[in-house]
Amino acid sequence: MAVLWVSDKPGAMEFLLILLSILCTGSCSGQVPLVLWSSEGYPLPQQNPPPAGHIVSTGQLDSYLSSALSTAPQNTLVFLQDQLSVDDFTVYGGVFDNKQDSAFPHLESALQASSSPLVLPALSWEGSSSILPLLQKHLGTPPLYLDPSSLEQLSLNASVAALLVIRLPYSPGSDPMSPKEALRGNDAVIGQVLDIMKTQAVPYTAIYTALKPSREAQEMSMGVQSVGRTLLQTPSSSYAPVRYPNDSACILMWAENLSVFQERDQKWTRFELGPMTFGAGATVTFDGSSCNTTRSRLVLNYQNVLGHQTFRLIFSMSRSFYKVSARDWFTLDHVELEYETQRLVFNGSRNIYAPAEYSYRCESVTSYLYALLVPSDPKDPLSSQWRVSFEDFQIQGFSVSGNNFAYASDCASFFTPAIWMGLLTSLLMLLILTYGLHMITQLRTMDRFDDPKGPSISVPQNE
Ligand SMILES: *[C@@H]1O[C@H](CO)[C@@H](O)[C@H](O)[C@H]1NC(C)=O
Ligand SMILES: *[C@@H]1O[C@H](CO)[C@@H](O)[C@H](O)[C@H]1NC(C)=O
Ligand SMILES: *[C@@H]1O[C@H](CO)[C@@H](O)[C@H](O)[C@H]1NC(C)=O
Ligand SMILES: *[C@@H]1O[C@H](CO)[C@@H](O)[C@H](O)[C@H]1NC(C)=O
Ligand SMILES: *[C@@H]1O[C@H](CO)[C@@H](O)[C@H](O)[C@H]1NC(C)=O
Repeated sequence: MAVLWVSDKPGAMEFLLILLSILCTGSCSGQVPLVLWSSEGYPLPQQNPPPAGHIVSTGQLDSYLSSALSTAPQNTLVFLQDQLSVDDFTVYGGVFDNKQDSAFPHLESALQASSSPLVLPALSWEGSSSILPLLQKHLGTPPLYLDPSSLEQLSLNASVAALLVIRLPYSPGSDPMSPKEALRGNDAVIGQVLDIMKTQAVPYTAIYTALKPSREAQEMSMGVQSVGRTLLQTPSSSYAPVRYPNDSACILMWAENLSVFQERDQKWTRFELGPMTFGAGATVTFDGSSCNTTRSRLVLNYQNVLGHQTFRLIFSMSRSFYKVSARDWFTLDHVELEYETQRLVFNGSRNIYAPAEYSYRCESVTSYLYALLVPSDPKDPLSSQWRVSFEDFQIQGFSVSGNNFAYASDCASFFTPAIWMGLLTSLLMLLILTYGLHMITQLRTMDRFDDPKGPSISVPQNE
């Protein structure tokens, strides 16, 4: 038994490693952003930010840091988060002038107070792992890992360089809390540390970055991964996307499967809308659809779906300007089902979004099981009777030019943290369980064969 276990273990480990490397292909190629600023009244040298889409290498990071640190305060704070992507600033940062809504209120006000902060939206992964060695080289002091309470006890000296590393406690993506709450929690820690520095009256340079990307920074990987990415621009299948209006389209939509499910007698009945929607046999009409520069609505009208004479599937999208990233994004706000006099709304919340110039693509958009769509009113009895599932789904409601989708912003990385970590956890549990079972079998084996007292118990010598 023991021999079997030993030969079994490397197999399991290999499997785990292979699984990890599969996971890595999705997110390990990404980049992390880096924000560098200094305390009020200590301007940083003006530096040219990298051109849009440029990925900053370790060597370039070195030269950015060396010119920043030539005049910046030598007490350096590094806020290290587990995962961060430039999308996080855009999606969870302040919208318009509404500070309440931002997940980064402390960071935003520190950046506002600082003159000429440096923002590197896409630092290569090697660059992000070499940040501490580079800082150590420039400052001539090793990093000191601290939490805010031990920082309070430390007395800093403005003329002595220090490299203080604060690991931020939450990780957007793998924590059970929502990414926004995680980011807000970390921002509160940043605020707390900056307050302590203020009371100590020591000028500082601060850096906010992460060990790995939380989501692929899709716009940055354009050009870099062009081979894999361009495949997404045009659907691989022979049929064309839905175009509304059909002469000069402003909305495009495509899916491999466009399915609705209705529960009847405690059984889910599936109906595939694909053949009625795409290709030569399509019978769908677009009455009620509309689009302008800020709102797009695609209404798909069908007949005889699951016994309902009229049936409509509606996609509502909107486009807004986000302040921190200074760019427009579009969101798929609602997916609606209408049949006869009934109406059911699913919210896309802020889960389904893409830069406004791009299309949005996702392997699977469903209202159940890792749902990107959630019933708008969970108490509505209809919401437990219907499900929708769109496989290999792609949509674009703005900036459409011609008959093809623009570059696709893929949701795949959305799945990596939450879902794949869940799968990985189950696998680990299984391994532990297997290990436990082996241990138990081993114990029994020893009992029976190695314990000399075992057989003597049943000795029937009773004269
Ligand atoms: C800061 O360090 C310098 C040089 O090591 C020293 O002369 C000075 O007294 C220190 N100041 C404080 C407040 O400890
Ligand atoms: C566009 O749609 C209209 C009405 O829905 C139809 O009459 C026309 O033939 C369509 N044009 C093309 C090129 O499919
Ligand atoms: C998904 O769509 C494809 C092509 O439209 C079709 O052949 C297939 O049967 C669909 N899958 C299901 C489960 O309906
Ligand atoms: C776009 O359409 C929506 C309704 O569909 C309307 O409320 C909005 O004012 C329109 N915007 C512009 C710029 O026309
Ligand atoms: C769905 O969105 C509507 C408005 O857009 C909101 O009132 C409702 O609370 C949302 N439902 C959920 C479950 O988030």
